[in-house]
Amino acid sequence: MGLTVGIVGCGSITRFRHAPEYVENPNVDEIVFYDRNHHRAEGMVKEFGGRVAATFEELINDPTVDAISDCSSNEVHHIHSTEALLKGKHVLCEKPLAVSVDKAKTILAAQKESGKKLMVDHNQRFTKVHQRARQIINSGEYGDVITFKTSFGHGGPEGWGVTKSNATWFFKKERSHSGVAGDLGIHKIDLIHYLIDDEITEVKSFTGSLDKVDENNQPIEVCDNVVAIFNTKKGRLGQGSFSWTYYGEEDNSTTIYLQKGIMKIYHDPEDQIIIEQPDGGKVKFELEPIQTNDNQTSTGVIDSFVDWIIHDTEPPVKGEDAISSLRVIEQILED
Ligand SMILES: NC(=O)c1ccc[n+]([C@@H]2O[C@H](COP(=O)([O-])OP(=O)(O)OC[C@H]3O[C@@H](n4cnc5c(N)ncnc54)[C@H](O)[C@@H]3O)[C@@H](O)[C@H]2O)c1
Repeated sequence: MGLTVGIVGCGSITRFRHAPEYVENPNVDEIVFYDRNHHRAEGMVKEFGGRVAATFEELINDPTVDAISDCSSNEVHHIHSTEALLKGKHVLCEKPLAVSVDKAKTILAAQKESGKKLMVDHNQRFTKVHQRARQIINSGEYGDVITFKTSFGHGGPEGWGVTKSNATWFFKKERSHSGVAGDLGIHKIDLIHYLIDDEITEVKSFTGSLDKVDENNQPIEVCDNVVAIFNTKKGRLGQGSFSWTYYGEEDNSTTIYLQKGIMKIYHDPEDQIIIEQPDGGKVKFELEPIQTNDNQTSTGVIDSFVDWIIHDTEPPVKGEDAISSLRVIEQILED
């Protein structure tokens, strides 16, 4: 018997990633969808099969449901994920885990109390390219990491979320809280922690609402751009640019400066890792193209979550990792 999985929030991330990847997973028998906009849950059933729960309480009190994907908007993750864990469900929560470190801690406390599994969708850790990059860095072949630069930018979430409008919750302070910092920045903070096996401890930053407007043509309440500089526990220095106003090709690139070379990740579409050596030589790795909003491929996140539940196979990201990235986002916003 496979798993029955519940999904709360039936917008874009459910439609493009969670639902299709659960459908493809041989260890998942059924999906139960809930959204406070009921027609969206019904739409998911038409597209992916499964059934609808009428309320969130019905979903988490359903004894046949083993696990919950929390795909609701940021401001309610700490409510949905905490309640689901306390009802004995494993939880895969979307990023950011919560809108503050304090609220994220309530989720972790529920996880400890329940003994259930909690994973967070920091999917940058799952790409073959980032996994290979981490292996190479950890091998020590190119010496220690000295500095790094990372970017994540695209044209903004108003064309991505289910509402497809400038009225999107992504632009509202009380719902998104952190704007592009918690939307795109958190992915790269988590990635840096993973790639160089370190933790950002100090932050200086500028944030701005530079170009996006809301449904009333007013500047949005959250930042659409962040530039930040970082210091890490192990004394590495780095910089990050996170943007919703890159109105061309998406930038998801990272550069790691090591003692014996420069590793460029996702700078080149063919060779996703290029290591430039001090003598001018280049080592290239052609692995797989990057996933973008326009090119949705399987993330491996769902398979990893299901494997953890069924086979107890440790996933590459857990609740504690999400809290340390969230701590950096709080520092970016406070600075
Ligand atoms: N891992 C990633 O790469 C990635 C990418 C995009 C979005 N996300 C995250 O996924 C989450 C959802 O984003 P999205 O793009 O699907 O947004 P979306 O606007 O497309 O969908 C959100 C859905 O949640 C529902 N919802 C909101 N509050 C609810 C509540 N209290 N009860 C029930 N349903 C509720 C809405 O009705 C909507 O259908 C966000 O936290 C976002 O940051 C992650």
